[in-house]
Amino acid sequence: MAELKRTLGLFDAFAIGIGAIIGSGIFVVTGVAAGLAGPALLISLIIGAVISAFTALSFAELSEFIPKEGGGYEFAHELISPFAGFISGWLWILSNVVTGVVVSLGFASYLLLFLPFPVDVNLIAALACLGVTFINYMGARDSSLVNDILVIIKLLILAFFVVFGFGLVKISNFSPFVPNGEIGIMQGATIIFFAYSGFARITLVSEEVKRPKRTIPLAIILALIISTIVYMMVSITAIGLVGYKMLESSGSPLADAAQSVNKNLTYLVSIGALVATLSVLLTTLLGLSRISFAMARDRELPQLFSKLDKRSTPYYTVLVFGFSMTVLVFFTNLLQAVALANFGSLLYYLITNYAALKLKERVYPRIIPVLGIVTCIVLLLFLSWDAWVIGSAVLFAGAVYYYIVIRINIKDHILKSKLTKFADRNWRDGK
Ligand code: ALA
Repeated sequence: MAELKRTLGLFDAFAIGIGAIIGSGIFVVTGVAAGLAGPALLISLIIGAVISAFTALSFAELSEFIPKEGGGYEFAHELISPFAGFISGWLWILSNVVTGVVVSLGFASYLLLFLPFPVDVNLIAALACLGVTFINYMGARDSSLVNDILVIIKLLILAFFVVFGFGLVKISNFSPFVPNGEIGIMQGATIIFFAYSGFARITLVSEEVKRPKRTIPLAIILALIISTIVYMMVSITAIGLVGYKMLESSGSPLADAAQSVNKNLTYLVSIGALVATLSVLLTTLLGLSRISFAMARDRELPQLFSKLDKRSTPYYTVLVFGFSMTVLVFFTNLLQAVALANFGSLLYYLITNYAALKLKERVYPRIIPVLGIVTCIVLLLFLSWDAWVIGSAVLFAGAVYYYIVIRINIKDHILKSKLTKFADRNWRDGK
């Protein structure tokens, strides 16, 4: 079988993490989360980071022992059961399709600022999804050079925002610090957790990383630390500039905060948001086609998903997921979509932590995956009921699909290969 080339160094691996992490979360979702937590969004951000850190350590540990392409899907397959592996992949797909919806809505809110006439935000988001589907269909590749450049651009623009805004921060904007109590802080954490998701993206391409046992854990932890520092600094600046109420009511909160500094900073921040959201959207669809292609090859999704065109693009998966995002954009709002994406990723992280718990050899103490599981459950409990209802329905559909379609398929496949072996043996024996 062809082997993948190990071309990604530490910076590339770190940049894949940051590339997947920094997107709509900080540029858009901060507004809604600030509405829930108030200035105590800063505490919500720390809670989100700590919870992500437990799970990130589990991913880091798993990728040390199983440095295979496929991330949580592969870990659950190997350490728990094929069913857990399938469900993990299924949840990953759910979470990423909906993440695509959130990110395209974020892109659209910022693009509106550049348009001279009013347009429906959902329509622009849908066009963005179609555009990204087209780019992926034409055969977009994971180009680590392009990703490295995009990551540097978004980090630099956020740094400009902090450098120019920080001096104008008004301390009075931080009081009252906890307007909605502890519940508000936890609800804020549940929503802003979205901003961290993507920290484990590098495990999807483990077989392309140089010295993976050292590079992957380091890249995951570094990406999480840097994004936490960036999120804290940006949120302190944004809340300090205009107050949490103004952020809450905006679809492009960082642009509004930058507006209070000057117009140039507003344009710069908006360009940063467009770059960040578009790059997350592109890699989200790319990741979706990669995972679903692998699942189809393992006979866990329809065989059509494993079809490649002349350019080696799994075009069927690109079209199915790209169009799904395009349609879903019209049926959901930002807050609902964030909650649903978090439902999928929290359950996916929960299964991954459980897989880490099953490792016999360990680097980190067992308490890490235990804390990962407990904290994911706590955040799940704070999610809205509609995320639970829709998420559970998708999960149930996955379980039914597995037991009816896949098990029959796989049994059929095993039976066929047994029959082939049997026929071969008979043929050799001259029977
Ligand atoms: N963490 C990613 C974002 O904020 C999903 O866009």
